Amino acid sequence: MASFPQIRLRRLRRTEALRDMVRETRVHLADLIYPLFAAPGQGVKKEISSLPGNYHWSPDLIAREAESVAELGIPAVLLFGLPEEKDDAGSGAYDSQGIVQNAVREIKKAVPELVVITDVCLCQYMDHGQCGVVVDGNVDNDRTLELIARTARSHAEAGADMVGPSDMMDGRVAAIRSELDATGFHETIIMSYAAKYASAFYGPFREAADSAPHFGDRRSYQLDPANAREALREVELDVGEGADIVMVKPALAYLDIIARVRRRFRLPVAAYNVSGEFAMVKAASQKGWLDEAACAAEVLTSLKRAGADLIITYHAKDMAAWLKSGKVT
Ligand code: PBG
Repeated sequence: MASFPQIRLRRLRRTEALRDMVRETRVHLADLIYPLFAAPGQGVKKEISSLPGNYHWSPDLIAREAESVAELGIPAVLLFGLPEEKDDAGSGAYDSQGIVQNAVREIKKAVPELVVITDVCLCQYMDHGQCGVVVDGNVDNDRTLELIARTARSHAEAGADMVGPSDMMDGRVAAIRSELDATGFHETIIMSYAAKYASAFYGPFREAADSAPHFGDRRSYQLDPANAREALREVELDVGEGADIVMVKPALAYLDIIARVRRRFRLPVAAYNVSGEFAMVKAASQKGWLDEAACAAEVLTSLKRAGADLIITYHAKDMAAWLKSGKVT
C-alpha cells in the first residue's frame, strides 16, 4: 500500500496554479445575496453604526444602490424595512405603500434583472418588537399566520421575486404558499428561514433594523442553539409546506446544520452569514487583528464547503471587489 515517501500530499500544493486546479470549493459571485435596508425619508444614505459599510437608504436612493450591486455581478438583494411608525398589528408590514413595498417597486423599475428577495416578518413593524401578534404576553402563532401571508402577498404584488419568511411561526410556509397561489403569484419563490436559531449573533442587526423585542426574547419560536435534530424537523416541515429554498441561520456557528441539511434534502440550501458574524470580522480587522478580506473569504468558503448553495452576507459587495482585484480567489 502506497504511503509516505511515495505519497506526498504537498506535491499538489507546490504552486498557486496547482492549488487552483485542485481547489474543491469556490465562492462565486452568483452565490451571493446582499442585504439592503430601506428607511423612510428622501435623500437618506446613513451608515449603520453596528454594520460599518452598510446603510439605511430612502426609497429614492435605494434603486441606485441596487444598480451598483447588480453592476458588481451580485445577482440578488434581500430587503429589510424600517417603517415610519409601528403599532400592535404590524400594519406597516402589509401596507401596499409600506417602506419595503415602495423600495421593491423602485428597485424593480431601475434594475429588473436583479433578483429582489424580501424578508417577511412583523418584528420591525410591531411596537413591542416581537415577530408575531402578542396575546396575553405570548406570541400567538395562528393569528400571526394571516398577517405573515398578507405581508408576503403585498411584497409579491410590489414585484418581489422571492419572499423570505423569518418569523419562525409553525405553518407559515403553507399559509404563504396558499395565499400566493390564490392570488395569482404561483411564480413567487419562497426561501424559508427554515432552521433559524435564537442567536445572540443577531445583535448588530437588531440595532440596524430597530427590531429588538421590548419584552422577553424569541426563544419561544426560534430554535434552541443546542438542537440539531429539531432543526431537521423544521426543514422537513418547510419542505413539505412548499418551500423552494431552505435557509440555515446563523451560518458560522451552525456549519454542522448546513452540512446535515445539505445531505438530507435536495433543495437549494442558503446560509445567512448574520450581522454578528460580519461584525466579528469587521471589528477585529479595524483593530488590526485580522485581515478582513482573507478572513471574510475564509468564512464564506467554509459555508460553501459545508454545503451551502447560496450565501447571504453583508460582505457581498466587498467580496465582489476582492474577487475582481484578485485579493481573494
Ligand atoms: C427578523 C430578522 C432578524 C434577522 C433577519 N431577519 C432578527 C431576528 O430574528 O432577531 C437577523 C439578521 C442578522 O443578524 O444579520 N426576524
